[in-house]
Amino acid sequence: MTIFPDMVEAFKKYGVIARAIAEGKIAVQVFNLRDFTTDKHRVVDDYPFGGGPGMVMKAEPFFRFYNFYRNNFGSPYVILTSPQGEIFDNKKAIEISKKGEVVILCGRYEGIDERVMDIVDEEISIGDYVLTGGELAAMVIVDAVSRFVPGVVDRESVKNDSFMDDLLDHPVYTRPREIGGKMVPEVLLTGNHEKIDVWRRKESLKKTILRRPDLFIKKQSFDKIDKFAIMELVRELMKNAE
Ligand code: ADE
Repeated sequence: MTIFPDMVEAFKKYGVIARAIAEGKIAVQVFNLRDFTTDKHRVVDDYPFGGGPGMVMKAEPFFRFYNFYRNNFGSPYVILTSPQGEIFDNKKAIEISKKGEVVILCGRYEGIDERVMDIVDEEISIGDYVLTGGELAAMVIVDAVSRFVPGVVDRESVKNDSFMDDLLDHPVYTRPREIGGKMVPEVLLTGNHEKIDVWRRKESLKKTILRRPDLFIKKQSFDKIDKFAIMELVRELMKNAE
């Protein structure tokens, strides 16, 4: 639900999301808040009671939309995008991917009439910065959530994602093998998949420890590949120190 439907319609046209829609794995419907006004000028905002800067989004168009939605599609899980919300992450994306019908209300202006909260299940922020509106946040949420809907991306690539095992991704390379003296790491050319797995995990661990120690501290379990990778990492450090 937005006052800028074209912004979100554009998002539906590209890449993985466009394919998932075409294949019927997900459906994304964009509603224009102004279609749920009743006045000639289709006004969606008004001055704040008590004064102060900016405008406030009116509650009634949201209520009208909500009733319309329930009458036509059933009861949705309702998210409001706002910098006051809980911070969005992969865990939250997985949770939302299991909800079925989800409505995302995009905020604009200085805020939304507080009474709209009666229909909101959850407020979500995509980070500690203020956007000019909730549309980008809604698209971020739809994008990240869709990846966890079965059939949208293959299971292996979801499993290999950054964050899934509390580690950042390892580096990747493609052809050519050499660019102006910069070589692809030898191990990737060996065809030895055990060695390649250990090397990749070592690079993941290294990057995570250096850039996101918070993720590394959170990491719950260390499997066999992790342990070999840590041994490899220590060996590498010792060799470099010689
Ligand atoms: N609207 C404005 N800023 C936002 C943010 N950081 N996250 C979600 N919605 C927003």
